[in-house]
Amino acid sequence: MADITIPRHLAIIMDGNGRWAKSRGLPRIFGHKRGAEVVTEIVRYCSDIGVSYLTLYTFSMENWLRPKEEVGFLMDLLQRYLEKELDRMQENNIKIVFSGRLDLLPPKTREITQSAASILAENTGMVLNIALSYGGRNELVDAAKRMAQMVADGKIKTEDITQELMASCLYNADIPDVDLIIRTSGEKRISNFMLWRAAYSEFFFTECLWPDFDRTELDRAIADFSGRVRRFGMTDEQVGN
Ligand code: IPE
Ligand code: IPE
Ligand code: MG
Repeated sequence: MADITIPRHLAIIMDGNGRWAKSRGLPRIFGHKRGAEVVTEIVRYCSDIGVSYLTLYTFSMENWLRPKEEVGFLMDLLQRYLEKELDRMQENNIKIVFSGRLDLLPPKTREITQSAASILAENTGMVLNIALSYGGRNELVDAAKRMAQMVADGKIKTEDITQELMASCLYNADIPDVDLIIRTSGEKRISNFMLWRAAYSEFFFTECLWPDFDRTELDRAIADFSGRVRRFGMTDEQVGN
């Protein structure tokens, strides 16, 4: 069997909950509910196989445009997920962080995210990064504002703006570039996800809807990733292929 490379930073665009429910004649929220159960299984599995950073695209900036009832349901579901999974994450030494415009969250949701993050803050295992109220363009605009402020305060000069400085101004700056992005549900787009850190990511698109995703499908994605040659602009010879 070929060697398996576990991505250091795996990111998943968990898509297809609504279609999963619709195909069963159920309201969309049933797809979200089943989707949250899959999250539990996949978080556990990623931690077991040695993924260092797992980013889950949970709610995008654009998702705020959905009907009020669906948005409310998703916020409640996240709260319930965090309350229910906290002990299990603690046992598995998982640290949780949130990336996005958290100031836009309902106060109760925001409180629960902050408390979960602080309870698990000292853990040294996998970092679970929940992209929530997240937009890649917003992340870059927020980073640009931070750098503009540093210039205005006289802390840096315009010439000091480098890729490294930019990266240090992203949400949860210590999280590295993404190695592999998986998108479920057959859509082949990035939908405003991880614009900076995806510069050299590998992609894996699957027809599988998120509520049907499981370890076997993840194994398939990782096996595929393991066979890729990542050249980063160089030649095969340079990267030792
Ligand atoms: C992903 O499933 C969950 C969120 C975006 C919150 P969708 O709700 O987008 O499901 P589809 O794409 O409509 O099937
Ligand atoms: C992307 O899925 C966002 C999340 C999975 C949280 P969407 O379903 O919102 O993306 P589009 O609208 O189909 O591009
Ligand atoms: Mg969708």
